[in-house]
Amino acid sequence: MKLGRLNHVGVATPSIEKSIAFYRDVMGAEVIREPFDLPAQGVKVCFVDTPNSQIELIEPLGEASPIHGFLAKNPAGGQHHLCYEVPDIHAAKAWFEGTGAKVLGEPRIGAHGTPIFFVHPKDMGGVLTEIMETPKAGH
Ligand code: CO
Repeated sequence: MKLGRLNHVGVATPSIEKSIAFYRDVMGAEVIREPFDLPAQGVKVCFVDTPNSQIELIEPLGEASPIHGFLAKNPAGGQHHLCYEVPDIHAAKAWFEGTGAKVLGEPRIGAHGTPIFFVHPKDMGGVLTEIMETPKAGH
């Protein structure tokens, strides 16, 4: 395992539109990317740039969205996951599985167009953790 940069902090929200207004008007965010749907993961996503990272706003998409349960417990939204980059997604998955951690599903293409997987919070100090292969130059 080689820990790379913190790529983003995932924040669940019942309304990306309202969250965008908050990050723009209250937090002073200057670069807010265009929201887009990620149907395979049941979420609508919007990235807000910070000088050293990004906030990933995630809103439920569809009835089966995994975010519904989180919002049922946290109706106003809240911090959902952290995402770290790694150089090799398959090596990272093998590493976590070797430690006995529960990897949630096979690597799949995430919001940045590179492979990702999640590790269960019970094995990560209570933090749902997304592991993402570092985007190649040009991404
Ligand atoms: Co994420």
